[in-house]
Amino acid sequence: MRDTALWHPFSDMAAIRHNEVVISRGEGIWLWDDDGNRYIDGAASLWYAQIGHGRQEIIDAVAAQMQQIETYSCFGEIATPPARDLAQALSDRAPMDDAKIFLTSGGGEAIDTAAKLSRLYWDVLGQSDRIHHVSRTSAYHGAHGFGTSLGGMPPNRQGFGPLVTDTTQVQYDSVDALERKISEIGSDKIASFFFEPVIGAGGVLPPPEGYVEAVTELCQSLGILVVADAVICGFGRLGSWFGVERFDIKPDMITFAKGVTSGYLPVGGVVVSGRVAEPFWSEPGRVAFRHGPTYAGHAACCAAGLANIEIMEREGLVTRGQELEGTLLESVQPLADHELVAEVRGGVGLLAAVDLDERVLERVPGAANQLGAHVREAGVITRPTLRGVPISPPLTISPDEIAQVAESLKNGLDSFAMTEAVQGALAAA
Ligand SMILES: Cc1ncc(COP(=O)(O)O)c(C=O)c1O
Repeated sequence: MRDTALWHPFSDMAAIRHNEVVISRGEGIWLWDDDGNRYIDGAASLWYAQIGHGRQEIIDAVAAQMQQIETYSCFGEIATPPARDLAQALSDRAPMDDAKIFLTSGGGEAIDTAAKLSRLYWDVLGQSDRIHHVSRTSAYHGAHGFGTSLGGMPPNRQGFGPLVTDTTQVQYDSVDALERKISEIGSDKIASFFFEPVIGAGGVLPPPEGYVEAVTELCQSLGILVVADAVICGFGRLGSWFGVERFDIKPDMITFAKGVTSGYLPVGGVVVSGRVAEPFWSEPGRVAFRHGPTYAGHAACCAAGLANIEIMEREGLVTRGQELEGTLLESVQPLADHELVAEVRGGVGLLAAVDLDERVLERVPGAANQLGAHVREAGVITRPTLRGVPISPPLTISPDEIAQVAESLKNGLDSFAMTEAVQGALAAA
């Protein structure tokens, strides 16, 4: 098999350098590789292709913007029409009052922005001891400095030496654990609490009933800023713009990326509540947020975002994640009876996960990735987690196509079960 010079993110290159799968075309929920094989996109690429692939309307919007000007930096007083319009569109849809929008190129930059902004906010208010950030086990908040330090998936933290200090993870599903940690650190030392409404890359872990409301209430009653990381959960995945609306909370900041453009071009950012933005927006000369990536507010990328929002609204895709959540869970739930499966989760948004049995995870190296390869051979592309395969298809998928995804998962599990490695693992257990 041919070799590659492309270093794939989060990947064991020694294992995959001769096994690349090259996706050369996409249309709606369908993908084709360069050998002509067709697959369902069970992952919405990497949790972002909300409207599906190949939409001419987005291509036209980007081309039209590029004919005017591809982009111009938004540092200082300069802006471009799409950057202004996207910020306004997001502010209008945000579940906070007078929201301001800080744009980035992706989710990791959004997380670093929120982490720095919350520390600076407290510094400006004269509470410069409030620097600690609390997050959760199993969390994924991107691969940048703060995001790596806030993340709660152990393999993503190992081997990099000391991470950002004054960051702590608490058990992801326990309000008590957060309360105890806050008392231990001292609430007056804590800048913010980061959480994903449904943990995504960490394994699709919906929150326990009442958890999101309880932790938000606890933190906000102590002045701790609440940062909802909606990078996966936003833009229809949970059935609303920012994924938090169904929990009836008002976070202080929301990080977003991925679905804001359905991935046609990279955009991320932070929605900042009017209250948190106020010290930065009200008094010239008081404080500038000296932070921001070169491509913050990239005009062609913002044009893609605006066209994406228009499509999502026109086609009723914003609520679709919630409308289909029951169908998806019902379709994959029977897999819980498969001998290789430990657990099936889902039910909050168009998200589900099939976790492998401990006997297989312990004894078969790279078991989740191997399962992913078998499921792909059965016709569905997924992006394996540490313990199995998650399902997060484009929001345009139909109930019949969801049934096809479930069928392919079953076929993939069956063929993985037949391998020598799995047979050996089951016999040894
Ligand atoms: C919840 C969450 N936050 C942040 C990120 C980082 O986003 P990006 O990969 O665009 O930097 C991701 C990426 O998967 C994510 O799932």
